[in-house]
Order: sequence, then structure tokens, then C-alpha cells
Amino acid sequence: MLRRLHHEQPESFAFTPANMDWAEAQISKYPEGRQASAIIPLLWRAQEQEGWLSRPAIEYVADMLGMAHIRALEVATFYFMFQLQPVGSVAHVQICGTTSCMICGAGELMEVCKAKIAAKPHEVSADGKFSWEEVECLGACSNAPMAQIGKDYYEDLTGEKLAEILDAMAAGNVPAPGPQNGRFGSEPLGGPVVLTGDKDETLNASVALATEIGDTIKRIDGTEVPLRAPWRDRSNEKGDASPNTHTPKLSEGAPADETGIDKRQAPVTPAADVKSDPEPAEPKPLGKENNDD
Ligand code: FES
Repeated sequence: MLRRLHHEQPESFAFTPANMDWAEAQISKYPEGRQASAIIPLLWRAQEQEGWLSRPAIEYVADMLGMAHIRALEVATFYFMFQLQPVGSVAHVQICGTTSCMICGAGELMEVCKAKIAAKPHEVSADGKFSWEEVECLGACSNAPMAQIGKDYYEDLTGEKLAEILDAMAAGNVPAPGPQNGRFGSEPLGGPVVLTGDKDETLNASVALATEIGDTIKRIDGTEVPLRAPWRDRSNEKGDASPNTHTPKLSEGAPADETGIDKRQAPVTPAADVKSDPEPAEPKPLGKENNDD
């Protein structure tokens, strides 16, 4: 698919103050001279703020990182996680159309999108709330067919279930992501055959975190979602993670594992006393193994 910038572009782009703070926190993760490494998170945040990536947004991020505009344009136009045209105000729906999902019913999901959103991918629905597209494998093949909506995966879908999810989102609700057929994770449909012990959780870790954060389909303007940049303030943490100054410490006599023996107590056998393995037997010709006995 050709990925080109949209023919209509806004005049300008700027991060909100809170998103600028978040972006600067991202940049601070990288050593001096390596700020360009923050390109993907910053483009993603710009997209979260506006819903899609305009040319001014891409160039704004490039300027923040001291990059040539063309390099940021290369990144933005390469990855289909970046939307290069306006999307629905509520959600953009990405239906996986690769082998597992297609075999398990992705075609039905796309028919639902055509009926409820727009006849063609990347068109915004008449009410402006939704848009959709077909994408390549999103890595949840064992829960096929699936769709990414906003940031989260809705898995084990049927056409009927997807229609319900879209209706709920249009009404301002956000159904819990994850498997939609009662599965906990990606265990066999008939239930797990190993690790069958009781578990306390009702949601798998990914769904629990998505539900806790709750920003699946929200536009992130910095007013609703707390900054998640714990690496920015490590002044209270013990130790020093700086690669230039960190020195590994001895265990001070504490056992390193359940043997109760720390490294200094472990018996040492001089190399000269170590018996070498006996000479390996001559390999037998192929097909002779059973004939000799
Ligand atoms: S084939 Fe759809 S997630 Fe992999």
C-alpha cells in the first residue's frame, strides 16, 4: 500500500505542555548525541494528541530531535502504526488480514467495518467517529481473528462481537480488550492442559494493565493521563544505573542461590586435576546402528 502524506495539512503543530514534558522525559532516556532514538515514541505521542500524523507534526518532532525532516518522514511513512490521514474521532480500527486471522474470520470483521464505518479503508464514517483499515499480522495469531483498536487488542472476535464493541465505543464506553470468547489468554479453546492450578486474576496481565490505564482510545492531551516516566526521577533509588559509573558489587557473603554457598566458599578444583572425558566412540556408519546388535 502506498503511504503518502494527506493532501490536506494543518498549518502547524505543537505539543501540549504536558505532552512536551512527556516528550522531554523520553528524550532524557538516551545518551547525548543519541536523541534521534526517541523518534518513534515522540511521533506516537504526536499521533495520540491529534489522532493522526500531519506533516507539521512530523517536522516538529524532527526539529525537537535535531533530525533532518526527511529522516522523520521516512520513519512516519514506513510504519503502519502511524496514520497519515485523519481518522475517526473515537477510534481507528485495524483489522488483521494475515493468514491465521483470515482463516478464522477476518473477512467477516471487515464486512462489519464496511457496513458500520465506511465502504473503503481509511475513509472516516459519516458521523466522523470511526475509520478502519486492514493491516498485516499484529502478533496475536493464536487469538485470531483480532483487531487493534486504539492501543489495545480485541481478540477471538466474531463479526457480531466486533459490531457490539463498535456500538459500545460510539456510546462512549470502552469494552475490556483481550479475548472476547471467554479465554483468559491464549490457552487452548478447551481450557489449559498444563499450569491448571487456581489463579486469582480474572483478567490476564495485559488486559488488566490496559483496563487500569484506561487510555485505549482516548486522545492524549496530557490532562487526563498521568505521566508515566519513572526513569526521570531516580534520585531516591538505591544504586547508580549509569553505564559509566556502575560497578558490580560482591554479595558481601550472602548466598547467591539456594545452595547457600557464595562464590568465595565454592570449592575450586585446579585445572590440572580435572579429568577429561573419555575418548568419544567412533561414529557408526548410518543405518548400521541396529544391524550390529
Ligand atoms: S495473523 Fe492475525 S495476528 Fe497474526
